Amino acid sequence: MHLLLSNCLLPANEARILLAHILEKHYQLPRSALLSRDDMTLNEAASIEWETLVARRIHGEPVAYILGKKGFHNIELMVAPGVLIPRPETELLVDIALAEIVKLNRPCRALDLGTGSGAIALAIANATPQASIVASDQSGDALAIAKQNAGTLKLDTQVQFTQGNWYEALDPKSTFDIIVSNPPYIADRDPHLVQGDLRFEPASALTDYGNGLTYLEVIISKADQYLRPGGLLAVEHGFDQSEAVMHLMKLSGFKELQVHTDLAGQERIASCRKPIQ
Ligand SMILES: C[S@@+](CC[C@H](N)C(=O)[O-])C[C@H]1O[C@@H](n2cnc3c(N)ncnc32)[C@H](O)[C@@H]1O
Repeated sequence: MHLLLSNCLLPANEARILLAHILEKHYQLPRSALLSRDDMTLNEAASIEWETLVARRIHGEPVAYILGKKGFHNIELMVAPGVLIPRPETELLVDIALAEIVKLNRPCRALDLGTGSGAIALAIANATPQASIVASDQSGDALAIAKQNAGTLKLDTQVQFTQGNWYEALDPKSTFDIIVSNPPYIADRDPHLVQGDLRFEPASALTDYGNGLTYLEVIISKADQYLRPGGLLAVEHGFDQSEAVMHLMKLSGFKELQVHTDLAGQERIASCRKPIQ
């Protein structure tokens, strides 16, 4: 196998991830076999699949779609081209929700708007059995994957899925202690949309087909109706949208506005609270 790795045109870490996948699938061997069995020769079926996976990656397909899975927070999610690949920076949104649930110290209700693979909702549910979560998306493809993930993770009784345009997916009388969302926030002319992994992800999960802020504006301006007094709203946004998002939160009358930075020091999440009275 060491020859396969050294002759491979992919970056070493990606080649190892793909080869570990082949070893697990064809030989039920753990990743450590990359080292412990590095003199092993692949059989014909495994060799053909290796060549295929390497070619797909060279063509630009994201590793997560090739493997059909992605780790997020403390869970593993099934992913496919109908759904956004969950990003590490979104884990911060989960941590903000979990800190709020700890603070509340009682059974609570959370809403995840634009759930995609179910990443945020399922990571929260996995960490806190006392939370019940509603997760919505407009995309039927995304919801099908999210429901499958909920079933695999045995979280389907804790998370309820609903389809529709943002809050229109909800019973208008429903209220929540926490609303979280990682909506599409890339402007429609942003050149990143036609580069790298993004080329393979659904456009409807990436862009609002406008200036990048239109969905954030809907989510923030209508949150008051669905939040309980004192409830928390936290949204992910682009690295250059913090000021605009803070402004939208202020305009909607929210208090305790907070900017959260990711591990790279970028302002990527904003949170605020509905006043109590
Ligand atoms: C950036 S992705 C986030 C997916 C997931 N929450 C995550 O963090 O990995 C945005 C999601 O919003 C959904 N979406 C786009 N427009 C929507 C709309 N008008 N109403 C509800 N969901 C929408 C997309 O289908 C997509 O799943």
